[in-house]
Amino acid sequence: MNVFCFCNQKGGVAKTTSCINIAASLVSQGQRVLVIDLDPQGNATTGSGIDKSELLASSNDVLLAAKTLLDAQQATPGGYDLVPANSELTQAEIDLLAVPLREFRLRNALKAVREHYDYVLIDCPPSLNMLTVNALVASTGVIIPVQCEFFALEGLTALINTIEQIKQTANPTLKIRGILRTMYDGRNALTLEVSEQLLTVFKTQVFQTIIPRNVRLAEAPSYGLPVLLYDANASGAKAYVALATELLLSEY
Ligand SMILES: Nc1ncnc2c1ncn2[C@@H]1O[C@H](COP(=O)(O)OP(=O)(O)O)[C@@H](O)[C@H]1O
Ligand SMILES: [Mg+2]
Repeated sequence: MNVFCFCNQKGGVAKTTSCINIAASLVSQGQRVLVIDLDPQGNATTGSGIDKSELLASSNDVLLAAKTLLDAQQATPGGYDLVPANSELTQAEIDLLAVPLREFRLRNALKAVREHYDYVLIDCPPSLNMLTVNALVASTGVIIPVQCEFFALEGLTALINTIEQIKQTANPTLKIRGILRTMYDGRNALTLEVSEQLLTVFKTQVFQTIIPRNVRLAEAPSYGLPVLLYDANASGAKAYVALATELLLSEY
């Protein structure tokens, strides 16, 4: 079972968009996928067609060990299962402070689903807090979406340092699974420059697949659908299918 978290403390870089669309694309290629929404904003939940105001169970319950992942997950139109989240998750951060081994809650919860899924994809909040630490400790790899714009590289150092810290303490086999260039606009000189910089610094750690700027990707969540079900011919849909293929072909 591969466990990938979508991590970047910068907001609006397409963590959630990438998480739910890679999930649907992996499903379309025969994989069993679980998405865990670990952001109190609950965007992955809404974008998966689940009403976050009426949750019987959420990632909050899983972190506090009140429910198992299998009890907390539900099916979504995209064909992947989802453990949803809403603003109650902000409370979990505080409640976690009182429990032992608080960094390991999600990792422990995942043990019970090892036979049930091929991929677990975790959508992280835009900060390096205890929720993100739980995701990093539970993951086999980190996918770092980066918007190709001026301040893209700023902040990546802090994220890389956090990943290194987690490797040295709680999760020695954690890998950077890939840097993902998102919202790419090939006509923009700055986009090209940032992309070149990423390739120079991170080399083969950068995914070959590039996600273009595509309005269909921004529209799909308001219908509660991954883009593949909203408009399979959109450039964004094709890009995320290509990325799922790149992931599957390079699995070790
Ligand atoms: N490739 C893209 N093209 C156009 N809009 C995009 C693309 N990727 C994401 N968006 C939009 O950009 C905004 C931020 O994306 P989101 O996935 O919510 O980022 P994050 O989870 O990192 O905060 C959202 O409104 C989303 O619909
Ligand atoms: Mg998000």
